[in-house]
Amino acid sequence: MPAVDRITIVEADITTLEVDAIVNAANSSLLGGGGVDGAIHRRAGKELLAECRALGGCDTGDAKITRGYKLPAKHVIHTVGPRWAGGGSGERAKLASCYRRSLQLAREHQLETVAFPAISTGVYGYPLREAADVAIATIAAELEAHNLPRTVILCTYNTPATVITTKALDAFKVQPR
Ligand code: APR
Repeated sequence: MPAVDRITIVEADITTLEVDAIVNAANSSLLGGGGVDGAIHRRAGKELLAECRALGGCDTGDAKITRGYKLPAKHVIHTVGPRWAGGGSGERAKLASCYRRSLQLAREHQLETVAFPAISTGVYGYPLREAADVAIATIAAELEAHNLPRTVILCTYNTPATVITTKALDAFKVQPR
């Protein structure tokens, strides 16, 4: 199966997904926040924060893994996306690194299904289509090179995001390679 066919789009609240890991769009403290970070911590319960406290933070572009606790997902992979500053401050490379490092952790833990939110596209202001293009290209390259994870879900949180992400995935599929 071509790597890109192992990428699927699901419109949902990521905290409801019963997968091996959901990815959290965290901040460098790993001590919780708003957006998807807040939703994951609320649903996982206080043990997640306790485990995160022991991780000593996370650099932008890096990722760390914890258990999922009360979430239906077995694990949470916490990654810190770049704040959008107009596109001239290495945002693209940092965002790509979030996806690459998260998938590397998934492989190291033999995880088969991983769901990503649209990292950096909320509070951090990264334009959604540009972020989707980076996410899809990076994930497809990783899946070309590795058998795990078997499936990667792009979890969109509303219909406009679903439409934009679907356009990005369709555009990637027809790109000459
Ligand atoms: N399920 C799926 N996607 C969600 C959910 C959810 N429950 N909640 C929000 N989203 C989407 C948003 O619509 C957005 O497209 O996740 C994307 C990322 O938005 P944020 O959560 O704001 O994350 P980000 O832009 O990476 O900013 C990270 O925000 O919450 C704080 O602690 C976090 O400081 C960090 C910053």
